[in-house]
Amino acid sequence: MRNLSFLNYIKGEEDDFTEILSGLENEEQKKINSKFFYDEKGSKLFDQITKSSDYYPTKKELEILETEYEQINNYLPANAVVIEFGSGSNKKISKLLKIIEKPEEYISIDISRDFLIKNAKDLAINFPDIKITAVCADFSDTNNLSKVVKNKKSKVGFFPGSTIGNFCPEEAKDLLKKFSKILGCNNYLVIGVDLKKDEKILERAYNDSEGITAKFNKNILSGINKICGKIFDVNDFDHKAFFNKNKSRIEMHLVSKKDQTVKILNKKIKLRQGESIHTENSYKYSVNSFKSLAESSGFKIKKVMTDQKAFFGIFVLKVKSS
Ligand code: AVJ
Repeated sequence: MRNLSFLNYIKGEEDDFTEILSGLENEEQKKINSKFFYDEKGSKLFDQITKSSDYYPTKKELEILETEYEQINNYLPANAVVIEFGSGSNKKISKLLKIIEKPEEYISIDISRDFLIKNAKDLAINFPDIKITAVCADFSDTNNLSKVVKNKKSKVGFFPGSTIGNFCPEEAKDLLKKFSKILGCNNYLVIGVDLKKDEKILERAYNDSEGITAKFNKNILSGINKICGKIFDVNDFDHKAFFNKNKSRIEMHLVSKKDQTVKILNKKIKLRQGESIHTENSYKYSVNSFKSLAESSGFKIKKVMTDQKAFFGIFVLKVKSS
């Protein structure tokens, strides 16, 4: 494919190892960063989640991209370079690339190499007139990404799927600031945000009746086993997901079914029966709370669109001139 190129900025596994170990050594609450969900199997399971009837965000976001075609087109510049922070399934980006007039290039950034390349190849075939660049990197890697996008004229960042919800508000602010830095003055960010709603609907979405989310949650341990040596038995844990009202977030945990000790190198990690490893936060915002987060992170709000039930929001933001 002549319109496809590839760049690699991925960190070594030593860094992953250190991060995992320090999360599991946390005395207050053991943790694993949710980015470790997305190995090949995890990405497939996530794709299945998005198709399950209980998980509404993906469907609602696609619905907005379809119904608000005109609106989004009005706000975004023609001939733009579109930069996706974390490439998901190709459905959403395909819609955006059709909404924008004559996009010049699509830069796809993801840590999961195989997934990234497969998606980029498919897109290169479906959009033969657009230059496609696949960048294997962490999407918060400001230094490398700034290099990749520098000299590009008009830029539109894309951060769908409410991935922003996986960061606590402080981290979300830092991440948005990084995006504004990478994109630069007067460029745009189109971001999808899951909104606050009835708790039952929220909890259902993370405890789907087919049990796919449970499988997805447990699969993080298989990913950890690949990096740290076979330390966990997936069958020793239960899936747990609930809405934490005070923090306005869904929390996912893996609950140990028994007292157990796992060994990573020379370190021993003890888990009591009923003790959990916190695997994910998924923050839910109101339109106004997200607006103020974006405004305090270097962006102006250009347009907010929701689906009919206001389950999900797409925000068109513009980087403030400093
Ligand atoms: C796409 C990462 C935002 O938090 O809803 C789905 C991931 N976790 N079910 C989310 C997820 C459990 C999802 N994100």
